[in-house]
Amino acid sequence: MTNLPKGFLWGTATAGHQVEGNNTDSDIWALEQSGTPMLPERSGDACDSYHRWREDLDIVRDLGLNSYRFGIEWARIEPVPGHFSLAGLAHYRRMVEGCLERGITPVVTLHHFTSPAWFSAGGGWLGADGVDLFRRYVHQAKAILDGVPWVCTVNEPNMLAMITGARRAAAEPAGKEDGEHRQLVAGAMPPPDQAASEALISAHHAAREELSDLAGLRTGWTVANQNFEAVDGADDLAAEWAYTREDQFLDAAKDDDFVGVQAYTRVVLGPEGPREPEPGTRRTLTGWEFHPQALEGAVRHTAERTGGVPVMVTENGIATASDDERIEYTSGALAGLGRAIADGVDVRGYLHWSLLDNYEWGTWEPTFGLVEVDRQTFERTVKPSGRWYGDLARRGELPS
Ligand code: BGC
Repeated sequence: MTNLPKGFLWGTATAGHQVEGNNTDSDIWALEQSGTPMLPERSGDACDSYHRWREDLDIVRDLGLNSYRFGIEWARIEPVPGHFSLAGLAHYRRMVEGCLERGITPVVTLHHFTSPAWFSAGGGWLGADGVDLFRRYVHQAKAILDGVPWVCTVNEPNMLAMITGARRAAAEPAGKEDGEHRQLVAGAMPPPDQAASEALISAHHAAREELSDLAGLRTGWTVANQNFEAVDGADDLAAEWAYTREDQFLDAAKDDDFVGVQAYTRVVLGPEGPREPEPGTRRTLTGWEFHPQALEGAVRHTAERTGGVPVMVTENGIATASDDERIEYTSGALAGLGRAIADGVDVRGYLHWSLLDNYEWGTWEPTFGLVEVDRQTFERTVKPSGRWYGDLARRGELPS
């Protein structure tokens, strides 16, 4: 059995927009209402976690987990530029305290894909003052972070830069040419907008500096890891893809307190670019290749690239309608994590994506949850995979 470090976090992760509901001042909410084929389904009430977060935390605790990653929504805290909502901040402070009261370690994400609508309308990350505006928001958010040991500044900046690049390049960036919704695989998207990448790196460093005077708080960001695999002599191309789409963001984490690893699948690159999985390849509900080994590869690559910055697995999971398949995938992923830990990689925790079947950015179809949510009544039902995962956490054992 792998020896896990003392205080290893066993948890689950969510993001504000995907579970809260009615995040009406955000840019993605506005995009959902625009009728873009990129987002055919809307978030609406989502899982109503904005009101039901206590119930969600009770589930986390009762499963036997000791950690919960959740996002705070900039649009609720600063609905109009320069106006900070004390009630918005107080809501998230109650969530932090709700975690602490239940013995749950909070892992707080400051930015998870969504920004206030006014921020994006004003140029967003590419706007002249994008980084300063983010820093101003982070300064205000400090008010709720007392007692929070782990803070993720920006979720998947590499995905965000790719989305920014795609949105700039075309009106219907993330859809197929016929405008159909497509599940995004970070590694197979158009290259990130380099200006956006650099702005996000500056924003992360500004946030880190802003948070540096809070005692006991560790700062990092969470990178989408894509496990690039070169075939047929595509090594140079793969190196270039890996740098622009992943490694420059890991390099920016070298002085961080931790780095978040988020891994789901792999991207195979031939000389012509990313290859579709062979016909007959097992795929998940997002269309991604079923590849539980992704986590081990991502954790090893991240540790190596950052020179040993402590790793927190901030997301890993599978979209499937079969709960047995979720257990199979997660067992495989955790076994790989155990091998990496046994080889000396410093891993501080594993936060499964996701607690709930949530809004998957334009569609409700891919179900990642350990807990099912009735979309009419919002009733939560723990799936067998949730109990299975909670049992592992209680025993503190990674499957071999
Ligand atoms: C994101 C989540 C998303 C998950 C599954 C990650 O890219 O951070 O918001 O739901 O992957 O697609």
